[in-house]
Amino acid sequence: MMVRKARMGDVVVIHQILAEFARQGKLLPRSLIELYTNVRDFFASEDEESGKVVGCCGLHVMWEDLAEIRSLAVLTKHQGRGIGRRLVEACIGEARELGIARVFTLTYEARFFERLGFCIVDKHIFPQKIWADCLHCPKFPECDEVALLLDLAGEQRLVAPPKKGELQSTSASPAGVRGRRKRGGV
Ligand SMILES: CC(C)(COP(=O)(O)OP(=O)(O)OC[C@H]1O[C@@H](n2cnc3c(N)ncnc32)[C@H](O)[C@@H]1OP(=O)(O)O)[C@@H](O)C(=O)NCCC(=O)NCCS
Repeated sequence: MMVRKARMGDVVVIHQILAEFARQGKLLPRSLIELYTNVRDFFASEDEESGKVVGCCGLHVMWEDLAEIRSLAVLTKHQGRGIGRRLVEACIGEARELGIARVFTLTYEARFFERLGFCIVDKHIFPQKIWADCLHCPKFPECDEVALLLDLAGEQRLVAPPKKGELQSTSASPAGVRGRRKRGGV
């Protein structure tokens, strides 16, 4: 199984995969135009034997220091083999390369993301998400999804001591974080 950046030729399949789980109420549907215009956000998981795309995940930049992991889905018969984890790790790797400090997600699969090192937070700490997307969402303001955050800047603070004169944070966790970061996260 290979995780790679999505290509234009993957978009129809990604659309079908997301539509299937959207019908089940597990994630929001994405239109073809949204997928084509945001194709660079996406990673695809390709079954190397069949050449078929069996999973996808997007990293959408929201602000200078914030990106969202969205539209994560793995076809049912391929679940439980580490594909979801690898897709999320690919998005996190890209966020690190871009120098993005915080990655969040809104999901019903909170435990899956906790296993990857994310912490549950209050969704209202992401006003950019509310301006950009939530206001147009049919669920607004009664959203029942759980927000989770991975603090990549906090990771760096844990390994690199602050430079001379730099304001030192008293905590590696961002404001609003409930629960503890797991060790060995992504
Ligand atoms: C959520 C989803 C992407 C997980 O994909 P997956 O390929 O089955 O997950 P993985 O095999 O990579 O699992 C990674 C880890 O999370 C755990 N895990 C997987 N699904 C889980 C769940 N629903 N609850 C708790 N833990 C879960 C696995 O046991 C594994 O743990 P380990 O690393 O300790 O062994 C997949 O179930 C899916 O596509 N669901 C439908 C769409 C959806 O709900 N998307 C999320 C919306 S953001």
